[in-house]
Amino acid sequence: MKYEALSNHLAPYGQEHLLAFWDELHEQQRSDLAAQIEAVDLEQIESLFKGDSAGPDWTAQSRQATPPIAMRRGAATSATQAVVSPEQARQAGTAALAAGKIGVLLVAGGQGSRLGFEHPKGMYPIGPISGATLLELHLKKVVAIAKKHGQPVPVYLMTSPVTHDEQLAFLEENDRFGLAEDDLVVFCQGTMPAVDEKSGKILLADRDRLFQSPDGHGGMLAALAASGAIDDMRRRGIEQLFYLQVDNPIIPIGDPELIGDHLLAESELTSVAVAKREPQDKLGNFVMLGNQMHVIEYSDFPDDVANQKSTDGSLKFWAGSIAVHLFRVAFLERMLQRKEGLPFHIARKKVSHIDAEGNRVEPSEPNAMKFERFIFDLLPQAKNPLVVEMAEEDWLAPVKNAPGAEKDTAEYVQRFLVDQHRRWLEAAGAKVADGITVEIDPLWAIDEETVHQRVKPGMVLNEPTYLCD
Ligand code: UTP
Repeated sequence: MKYEALSNHLAPYGQEHLLAFWDELHEQQRSDLAAQIEAVDLEQIESLFKGDSAGPDWTAQSRQATPPIAMRRGAATSATQAVVSPEQARQAGTAALAAGKIGVLLVAGGQGSRLGFEHPKGMYPIGPISGATLLELHLKKVVAIAKKHGQPVPVYLMTSPVTHDEQLAFLEENDRFGLAEDDLVVFCQGTMPAVDEKSGKILLADRDRLFQSPDGHGGMLAALAASGAIDDMRRRGIEQLFYLQVDNPIIPIGDPELIGDHLLAESELTSVAVAKREPQDKLGNFVMLGNQMHVIEYSDFPDDVANQKSTDGSLKFWAGSIAVHLFRVAFLERMLQRKEGLPFHIARKKVSHIDAEGNRVEPSEPNAMKFERFIFDLLPQAKNPLVVEMAEEDWLAPVKNAPGAEKDTAEYVQRFLVDQHRRWLEAAGAKVADGITVEIDPLWAIDEETVHQRVKPGMVLNEPTYLCD
């Protein structure tokens, strides 16, 4: 009976093959498979495959674009910059932290396929001497800023079915690296099936299981609501969220100046940019289309636009996205009221699956379409959007690739961490011998100012040193 109902449900969309192994399944496997099928919006999958909801023609749009409203380092290029000094911004940000209005939104639901690490990426050991994991560094920074400002800073950590259980167990085993139980809210994002890129048929991971993958970092919006995390923010009086991704351990989480820029500009969504070095850098491009802010992916940004120069010879479209944002919680709530969710983007990937005979297929070339939502699709809806330029050496060092790649490997990121810590120590008057590795535990100091308070006059480091309490 169940079989018939399911088959009738699937037939109009040409997806009956999902029941091909029904006769071989136990009762429990059948009901699990049925639940997975019922959870899929077949109409949506069909329309995504057919390209009915294909996005705009970005090449054409790029040619209409103007540079983003931005605060640039050391140059008065916007009305905002003329009225807000860095000192004013720092004061406003510090006051918001001291009033307990800031939360952290950390997304860690991705599969980390490029890195090829056998655990969730957050568990990757990255501390150059300590071997501290990405999650440890992030959470300790939050503990340190909460202590500094005398108010808890809750962390909303997004996982996915792929990363949830292991990360949760890891955090519990390590007492959340000092974060109070109440200050860590873990919520799980949704998933989407993948389809064969030629036929549009949903792929089976096994005889009783659809292939499902996390629905992109933009899945955060729906997951915040479904999990009740957004209600928790309301209850606690959290008004702004500092958003970051688990793979970038260098970021000064809760940077008061950035928070202040966002508050004083009355922005609903402020994003950090670094100045692109080359026109074709692999970073999303912040642009204005009319009075809306957008990110146009580098792959959609035509060379003739990317190569354009300003009168001073610098890149006209200079602002590269590093996936760090500040969200007003009220903005996210407003977005949740809208009927349509964030759009899906299509990624062509290699997906291992079983074929009609039940044989495993391990493709060597992309064979499937995956569907993902992107966080930056919120930007066009934001009132008073703002881009703030930050220095790459203090904001952008993500762990993306396995050893051997040119950039964004663990080794590359560790170099950034060591250089950052060396700069802080030297600015505080310490002498650090050339070429040695230095690392600072976030609980020892989190920025140049706190390092200054801890460095004793005459400090000399001649050998690899991990500074911790
Ligand atoms: P990436 O797009 O770089 O993906 O995610 P990834 O999973 O880290 O790595 P690849 O592409 O499979 O090699 C950037 C950030 O967004 C999070 C990731 O955990 C990472 O922090 N993310 C990505 C999610 O939380 N959910 C997703 O569905 C996708």
